[in-house]
Amino acid sequence: MIRRHLALRVVEALPRQVLLPTGGKFSAPGYILSKYAPLARHAFSTSSYRLSNVLKTARELIDSKLSLGGKVTVVTGGSRGIGLALAKTAAALGSDVAILDVHEPETSVSQLETDYGSRFIFQRMDVTSKIAMELAFDKVVEDLGKVDNCITCAGIALDKPFLEHSWEESRRVLDINVLGSFFSAQLAAKQMVKQGNGGSIVMVASIAAHCAIPAQRVSIYGASKGAIKVLGKTLAVEMAPFNIRVNTISPGFIETKMSAQFADIQDVFRTTPPMGRIGQPEDLALAVAYLLGEGASYTTGTDIAVTGGLHNGRIEV
Ligand SMILES: NC(=O)c1ccc[n+]([C@@H]2O[C@H](COP(=O)([O-])OP(=O)(O)OC[C@H]3O[C@@H](n4cnc5c(N)ncnc54)[C@H](O)[C@@H]3O)[C@@H](O)[C@H]2O)c1
Repeated sequence: MIRRHLALRVVEALPRQVLLPTGGKFSAPGYILSKYAPLARHAFSTSSYRLSNVLKTARELIDSKLSLGGKVTVVTGGSRGIGLALAKTAAALGSDVAILDVHEPETSVSQLETDYGSRFIFQRMDVTSKIAMELAFDKVVEDLGKVDNCITCAGIALDKPFLEHSWEESRRVLDINVLGSFFSAQLAAKQMVKQGNGGSIVMVASIAAHCAIPAQRVSIYGASKGAIKVLGKTLAVEMAPFNIRVNTISPGFIETKMSAQFADIQDVFRTTPPMGRIGQPEDLALAVAYLLGEGASYTTGTDIAVTGGLHNGRIEV
């Protein structure tokens, strides 16, 4: 009851201002008003139609299509960076959240619960360990009761010339990025099938699944993310009869600890995307919110590239 109340409070707050990951704020009403109000005013200028009706519709839209109230969302690699941002996004939309990661979350679970009014649990889990993964998903069901959504975000990067990649480091990238994501999605899907209510799985791919990247040599990393992008399609088709949707997102350069480790090319991250800036984790928030929510109930096997345009190439040199 309290959870439902809190979830409603979050949804109620949406049209005004949502605290988004990394401290950013999303102001739906400003956007909605500036985009749709002129149209509405024009269409109903001779009637008594009021602007509040537009807002009410937007509110209902968010409530029915974006709200994750009553859901449980699992986020692998959710302790920091993009994963933590997406965990916060799910919570802001009303979901309870399980963070599964090798490291403690950068923001404590109790702080997250206070900030978002949703239940959070953290379970230490290495995505290369079958036993740890099975235990972690069991713990999610034990503590939060079910799994409705799963975001596979745990990943590592490797930037070095193709000719210098070793077997060991290449295998590790594939173990974590491909098999770790694959079996996380499988454990989530098994639980969803058991529950019989469908679900949504969002797997984090990369711009490296689309093209070579300026200033980086990421052959095996790109191969691992290419695998995720294909899994998004094949799993989508295979899981559709269970009403389990599977989609991927492909982030471009996003400011996190992962991108920070490439200190000497920070200017490349900032200047090469056509939109003229590096992305923030919150730039991914609403793309993933859409894929998780009811509004995407007919969307599966799709990749959303959030790259500031870079996956399409560039003109300026
Ligand atoms: N930052 C970018 O520019 C960028 C761009 C495209 C795609 N991505 C992808 O987004 C995802 C998140 O990246 P990020 O930038 O937030 O990186 P990050 O390094 O900040 O976070 C990665 C998280 O994954 C966890 N993790 C790593 N290995 C793990 C393992 N074996 N088991 C469980 N958890 C593990 C880490 O502890 C960490 O919390 C990754 O899959 C990454 O490949 C990032």
